[in-house]
Amino acid sequence: MASRKRESFRWRTPVEIGLIAAVIYVLLGAPGLPTWIWPDSTPVHEASPRAKIESLVYPSEGLQCPKHTYDVHVFSATPLIIYIDGFLSDEEAHHLVDMSATKWQTSTVFNKGVESTDESVRKSEKALIDRDQTVQCIEQRALAFQGWPAETFIERLWTQRYNVSGHYAHHYDWATTSKTSRRSSTFMVYLSAECTGGGTQFPRISRPDESKWCQFVECDGETEGVTFKPRAGSAVFWNNFDADGRGYKETIHAGMPVTSGTKIGLNIWSWYQAGHVPE
Ligand SMILES: *[C@@H]1O[C@H](CO)[C@@H](O)[C@H](O)[C@H]1NC(C)=O
Repeated sequence: MASRKRESFRWRTPVEIGLIAAVIYVLLGAPGLPTWIWPDSTPVHEASPRAKIESLVYPSEGLQCPKHTYDVHVFSATPLIIYIDGFLSDEEAHHLVDMSATKWQTSTVFNKGVESTDESVRKSEKALIDRDQTVQCIEQRALAFQGWPAETFIERLWTQRYNVSGHYAHHYDWATTSKTSRRSSTFMVYLSAECTGGGTQFPRISRPDESKWCQFVECDGETEGVTFKPRAGSAVFWNNFDADGRGYKETIHAGMPVTSGTKIGLNIWSWYQAGHVPE
């Protein structure tokens, strides 16, 4: 009897120490664990509460666009993620940067429909782009790339400028998960990338082994997931939803902080709006 008591005492102590240590670790915020371990505690911030119908556009009928080619590199089939080298020409990229020059305003975030600035979440400036022929040709290119999906429109284009320490914390682009209305896909286009840092990071997607990807993704260092490098004119395209309308959790992503110079990006969001007729 006495020896059994001593044995249970000997074993209980390390277990108790372990439990207390685990509680302290969690109270400290579980340092060292990747941020995607708990999906529900991952901060999710929306670029907009939902696209307003008036911000949905469609390229004009009879639009004449110059021939343009780009190189497609399929990164992942599910979710579909494609790196597009040369999605925009140098002239198009410069034109969008020039058009933004007089329009920069501080970027905002939405939380339960309330718009505010929060530099811990998003630090950048944005500019709403007028829809001239060049811009409509880019809208058309984005829809053609996806095979002209039915009842799918482009949200008015915005450029984004990130100076040193500019960033956008992890978020989904989903905007809503409604069956009839949602942001179906994203092109993250880099217009100007005279910077260090500023990559687009997907913590739940692993970095490919093949070294051919190192021209497009960060291959140095021990970063979480995969980080696409900003390269002027190129774009990362991905679908935000599967065919049944379920948001892909893998598409959570962040704009990493710019550490020197300036990055200018362009969001091209496609919006599925059942029953909407373009003007
Ligand atoms: C960002 O940098 C540009 C110059 O590259 C400057 O004109 C602009 O004011 C800066 N924006 C902020 C918010 O500091």
